[in-house]
Amino acid sequence: MTDLNTTWMGLSLRSPLVVAACPLSDDLPQLEKLVAAGAGAVVMRSLFEEQIAVEQMAVHRHIDSWVDTNAEARSFLPDRNLFPVGVEPYLAQLERLRSRLGVPVLASLNGVTPGGWTDLAAQLESAGAAAIELNLYDICTDPAMSGAEVEDWQVSTVCEVVGRVSVPVSVKLSPNYTSVPAFAARLAAAGVSGVVLFNRFYQPDVLLDSLDLDTRLHLSTSAELPSRLHALALLHGRVPLALAATGGIHTGRDAAKAILCGADVVQLASALLEGGPAALSSILAELLGWLNGNGYASVNEARGIMSLENAPDPTTWERLNYMRMLQGWQSRAGRR
Ligand SMILES: Cc1cc2nc3c(=O)[nH]c(=O)nc-3n(C[C@H](O)[C@H](O)[C@H](O)COP(=O)(O)O)c2cc1C
Repeated sequence: MTDLNTTWMGLSLRSPLVVAACPLSDDLPQLEKLVAAGAGAVVMRSLFEEQIAVEQMAVHRHIDSWVDTNAEARSFLPDRNLFPVGVEPYLAQLERLRSRLGVPVLASLNGVTPGGWTDLAAQLESAGAAAIELNLYDICTDPAMSGAEVEDWQVSTVCEVVGRVSVPVSVKLSPNYTSVPAFAARLAAAGVSGVVLFNRFYQPDVLLDSLDLDTRLHLSTSAELPSRLHALALLHGRVPLALAATGGIHTGRDAAKAILCGADVVQLASALLEGGPAALSSILAELLGWLNGNGYASVNEARGIMSLENAPDPTTWERLNYMRMLQGWQSRAGRR
């Protein structure tokens, strides 16, 4: 039977399947079932930079009352009701999950600007976070700010978080960097232990009838996986970072693909929100079946064999393959 024990950023996990940051972290009974079904670790939903800043300001009573009376202040500070979990309840839930689940629990911070809010990382560590996942979900709207400036800004934020804790820090990235490998290497040099690839951008659609935006969240499908596979394959063995895949993992075969491309762990949100612990059991069984059936004694043995570094044909991951794909396309008529 294939050994699924996995080391991720120095954490020992009994399986590479991780519950991704999402509302499941509010539901201890469901998490207990997910752990019983084989989850190796849990990432809590995020605390947001904006939320932490509001709560930090609110401890100064005079600022709070000023905010209450000043329309302009209200317009730039987000409404507290936007955030389902406050900072104190979050810390309490982290302690509860850590003491009850028996697997590593990671806390998640979501923000991009250096500032006092990053102090919270130390509190998360004290409350028992096995690691901190920092989500750099950035939306760049300023045409005067270059990509290099945005990246410098993000690295400063990362350095603040890394400097406040002794537990590992992983950074959840968007796919939209000019060079994901170069940015990942910068993160490694800044003391980051891992990256999580990739954020999903919840792109709003335009509602033509109401001239409004449709901001409903749609869960992922396996169709989102290939962009993650590509990035994993480029990074595996080439940057000193643990690699987590997130986005589009719905089956054991999806998980196997991510591991073959270099993922240390795969994170699951949509599949578990839809299918609960039964989905996790079936993903684990299919992954195990595939690894066993193909003769792997351990998940470590399979990891990265399809990466750029190890692939039998590395050009699969490079520009040459893009050209091959374009040239190789045949219309349906041509295929007959
Ligand atoms: C309802 C919902 C809430 C989420 N909340 C967070 C969050 O608080 N922080 C975060 O980093 N990612 C969050 N995510 C993103 C997931 O962690 C995950 O990266 C993404 O959904 C892609 O994985 P999937 O294809 O398995 O869903 C959320 C996703 C969903 C569906």
